[in-house]
Amino acid sequence: MRTQVGIIGAGPAGLLLSHLLHLRGISSVVLERRSREYVERRVRAGVLEQGTVDTLVAAGVGERLLREGLPHRGIELRYGGAGHRIAFERLVPGRAITVYGQQEVVKDLIAARLAADGDVRFEVDDVAVHDIGTDRPYVTFGGGERLDCDVIAGCDGFHGVTRPSIPDGVLTAYEREYPFAWLGVLARVEPSAEELIYARTERGFALHSMRSPEVSRFYLQVPAGTDLADWPDERVWAELRTRLETVPGFSLATGEIFERGVTPLRSFVAEPMQYGRLYLAGDAAHIVPPTGAKGLNLAVADVRVLTGALARFYADGSTELLDGYSAACLKRVWRAQHFSWWMTTLLHTFDSDDAYGRRLQLSHLDYVTSSEAAAATLAENYVGLPYEDGDPAGP
Ligand code: APR
Ligand code: PHB
Repeated sequence: MRTQVGIIGAGPAGLLLSHLLHLRGISSVVLERRSREYVERRVRAGVLEQGTVDTLVAAGVGERLLREGLPHRGIELRYGGAGHRIAFERLVPGRAITVYGQQEVVKDLIAARLAADGDVRFEVDDVAVHDIGTDRPYVTFGGGERLDCDVIAGCDGFHGVTRPSIPDGVLTAYEREYPFAWLGVLARVEPSAEELIYARTERGFALHSMRSPEVSRFYLQVPAGTDLADWPDERVWAELRTRLETVPGFSLATGEIFERGVTPLRSFVAEPMQYGRLYLAGDAAHIVPPTGAKGLNLAVADVRVLTGALARFYADGSTELLDGYSAACLKRVWRAQHFSWWMTTLLHTFDSDDAYGRRLQLSHLDYVTSSEAAAATLAENYVGLPYEDGDPAGP
């Protein structure tokens, strides 16, 4: 079998790349280890930057997103018995975010790929990449199948096979682990507030989010290694109440919890994001803690850059943009790394923090919620910085 671009992984990065390449007349095959049902049901974050929305709409996969996504023009930071709104409309006029579950993006992308006769293969075992240091790389999978390609895109997430296939000594990993995780639940209940609430309490962080007028999404900071079995529904609701019902007049509506999970928090970057004819995109190359809601948005930004570089390669044979792929992505990646780390340290409780550290954190929160300049820094990063290529409609 032969294709132009072999794509490993059918998460948002691999699927969007395949679709953007198709729009440029470039062929690809996507190889995914899990089933279609599994990837369509995998619950992740749900905040899309304006640039992500524009990219998906320009790619023709934004119809349901525009219909069902919830535009938000602010978030609340809640601590010390009061709520403080970060008003995007005032701080970053004309920019907003859209709340739309990542698995909905995945469903829309799969539907678009299949409608365009795209080659997306699910439940593919034993994927391995070969000869990536040459200009004739290939992928093997299943019981002895082989896919020859010009280029391989490693879109297989943090635990994938492509990054570890790069020879030792090429990559430098930059990493930070946090001593806590997020316990996330989806509940069939109307959101208790119109906007997201990021709550900092002495007992830990909590987040009120949503998916639709009927479904709310919540997260609780819990110790790393937490077992879901220790968190029956009553305990989840009691803890959410304690951490969120901290301002006068706010009461949390409860309902049936129908999905739950624990996600460790990690910061990670592998540099460079390429080797030979293998290009890493999305979580395969970098991870951010979810506090800044940047994971999916960074994956989209990588894929835009890679699409532009591959389009140039196929147009005139030049590898100039491909050679500069990693450098072009890493500026934004590191900005998101800093923002996500910063939001995480601003809002979580760290066991290692002494009383002095907690005072610093509160002072920082007071500054962010009282200074227009500090609030604008948060808002500008949260809604997403403009793309380097300056094209809001996509590559
Ligand atoms: N072979 C084939 N597919 C694989 C393999 C493998 N060996 N290993 C992993 N995969 C698949 C996974 O099953 C998954 O579907 O690669 C896909 C990677 O998708 P994601 O983890 O969603 O990563 P990405 O597409 O980069 O999207 C980034 O996802 O993790 C979230 O918060 C993150 O929002 C961000 C987004
Ligand atoms: C979510 O709704 O899943 C969500 C929202 C904001 C975040 C992270 C996750 O920072």
